[in-house]
Amino acid sequence: MPWPSGSPVAEWWDEAVFYEVYVRSFADASGDGVGDLPGIRAHLPYIAELGVDALWLTPFYPSPGADHGYDVADYCDVDPAFGTLDDFDGLVADAHELGLRVIVDVVPNHTSIEHPWFREHRERYVWAEGRNGGPPNNWLAVFGGPAWTHDPASGEWYLHLFAPEQPDLDWHQADVQHEFESILRFWIERGVDGFRIDVAHGLFKDPELRDEDEPVPGSEPGSFDRRRAIDQPQLHPLYRHWRTLAGDRVLVGEVFLSDPVRVADYVRPDELQLAFNFTLLWEPWDAAALRDAIDATLGALAAVGATPTWVLENHDVPRLVTRYGSASRARAAALLLLALPGTAFLYAGQELGLEEVALPDEARQDPVFFRTGGARAGRDGCRIPIPWSPDEPGFGFTDAMPWLPVPADWGSLSVATQRDDPASMLSLYRDALRLRPRGGGLTWHESPPGTLVFERGGTVCAVNVDASALAVPQGELLLASDSANRGELPSGTAAWVRA
Ligand code: NOJ
Repeated sequence: MPWPSGSPVAEWWDEAVFYEVYVRSFADASGDGVGDLPGIRAHLPYIAELGVDALWLTPFYPSPGADHGYDVADYCDVDPAFGTLDDFDGLVADAHELGLRVIVDVVPNHTSIEHPWFREHRERYVWAEGRNGGPPNNWLAVFGGPAWTHDPASGEWYLHLFAPEQPDLDWHQADVQHEFESILRFWIERGVDGFRIDVAHGLFKDPELRDEDEPVPGSEPGSFDRRRAIDQPQLHPLYRHWRTLAGDRVLVGEVFLSDPVRVADYVRPDELQLAFNFTLLWEPWDAAALRDAIDATLGALAAVGATPTWVLENHDVPRLVTRYGSASRARAAALLLLALPGTAFLYAGQELGLEEVALPDEARQDPVFFRTGGARAGRDGCRIPIPWSPDEPGFGFTDAMPWLPVPADWGSLSVATQRDDPASMLSLYRDALRLRPRGGGLTWHESPPGTLVFERGGTVCAVNVDASALAVPQGELLLASDSANRGELPSGTAAWVRA
């Protein structure tokens, strides 16, 4: 069925809101300063009451932690820091009891360098001879530096699109494909409702490992427009196969390609059901840019009949309040996000309006900071533990020292402080999740420059991005991002009105 078309909702994920839990930062039950599965399990009622439909858990598998779990040493177990398989089973059972679905992260592009395969099955990785005493080709790592590391023992180089502790698997090997089928089956049998596929546009590499084209003069230094390391044709038969294997579970691809038309290839009817769409997240708080991103996404996905997805925050990008420069804009953005057709992804803490934290260098943990010699701040600032209560120093997250320091003034942002305040960001998200329009496509209304007004499923969403004022559309006011202004919407506010 083409989307958006007003067609009936077919599957649970088509209109779902997913809530991303960054496992290390959500809640610590074991008292070591690091979040864990029992901590999440204890807070499931909070997630259910928020009104989301599903939970996405970031990697909790055994890992040396070079990229905080995105370097997996065993795909079919739980890292002792996060709990046990029994804890996982209990979490899934409780979530289902509360009506929440659970998807887990699968990390197929690379393993940890400490995965036994790297020692015992070298052929499962991408190895090549060097060129003129240097790396085999000009590919660069996403985390900085060349994408190749020399192995003195063999004299060869191994590929890592991320950190050297994350060697890339060679997906042209049948063994690798079979191993991942077993991994998917393992978690399916444990009751998961789907998978978020890390680096879903990666996996296969150009079999000849040819150089990427040199950057266009004037473009960001080192930013090769990758064509040979990613987005290879072999991915599509693979995902068609995974789709069959997944049955009625959802597959969400982290297809990190800038053009929604290229992303759409991954969500053709027999491939992944969903792919992240980062277009909104990359745009500034600018009405024309946001509208273009929405239209480009809807156009590209309608062409293949796929469900649109939207996201404004995740564990890799600075927090929204800081990106947009104010809590007011972040509140308006929440109403925009949750009125759009399709599936939305929230990142734990977004509903509290957490800010990006500028950490002192000695507190930083992200390999991005270290591998770029500090040129990039890294992602720790959006991974600060959730403040549950105003009590320092653990803020209800932990009885120990939190693994990243929580700012002393975050008591005011804590769940306990916001829970009963009808004007809080948390209350706004709860209200929006309850009242959000469902079903149907999006129709733009004419509106002044600097504003966005559209109708969907009988609700008009009006966003004053940066105009001096916007009249609240006619009709019954359902929800306003700023309750102080009900007649008109000042700059950086939004409202939902029943048409
Ligand atoms: C995308 C994940 O979201 C990010 O956190 C991770 O560092 C990379 N993939 C590599 O696995």
